[in-house]
Amino acid sequence: MRIDIISVIPDLLRSPFEHSIVKRAQEKGLVEVHFVNLRDFTADNYKSVDDYAFGGGAGMVMMVEPIEKAILHLKSFRDYDEVIYLSPDGELLEQSISNQLSTLKNIILLCGHYKGVDERVREHLITREISIGNYVLSGGELAACVLCDSIIRLIPGVLNDETSALFDSFQDNLISPPVYTRPADYKGWKVPDILLSGNQKKIDEWRMEKSIERTKLKRPELHKKFFKP
Ligand code: ADE
Repeated sequence: MRIDIISVIPDLLRSPFEHSIVKRAQEKGLVEVHFVNLRDFTADNYKSVDDYAFGGGAGMVMMVEPIEKAILHLKSFRDYDEVIYLSPDGELLEQSISNQLSTLKNIILLCGHYKGVDERVREHLITREISIGNYVLSGGELAACVLCDSIIRLIPGVLNDETSALFDSFQDNLISPPVYTRPADYKGWKVPDILLSGNQKKIDEWRMEKSIERTKLKRPELHKKFFKP
């Protein structure tokens, strides 16, 4: 899979791709992530990417021209399955969306800033809009990193058996059961006996029971989906 991220602050994007699972996925050649600086596609000497909003009002708007140029530049090398705009008013990200996106070959992510992008970008260039939650970030970069992390870990071969995404919370509309590690007794705070029993069948049953119980308590809307998908 190849992910191209268009941004005015590519430096904001780097660190999340330089560690742990996401870094290893790139080293294994399972994903390529490229940062595209929108200012490389500006027409003027000031490298402006934004301008005042027609009709007045506070805040700058990202111009259509540099964005179109950046996207066309990328498209001149390969086809893209989706051009995704990260925006607080997009479709709310959930596991099923990450699952679906992880099967694609090439995607472009566009990070917004200021008051957002000229509406014509959304009308003519964007194929999908995604929000990572009902709150407003200063720009789309952190959202793009969150989206990429959730996608990359699902690409076949990225996780090994031990870290398999099949057991992640949300994969089947259930959140994960509680987990414990040594010591079995910390100042009298004990690990449930069943987990020390060695009886795998009983442990699996206990985990499923706890998952359902926790989902009902913490995320009732998912609990309903689990029983009636
Ligand atoms: N840009 C600003 N806020 C955002 C959010 N919540 N999700 C995605 N992109 C954003």
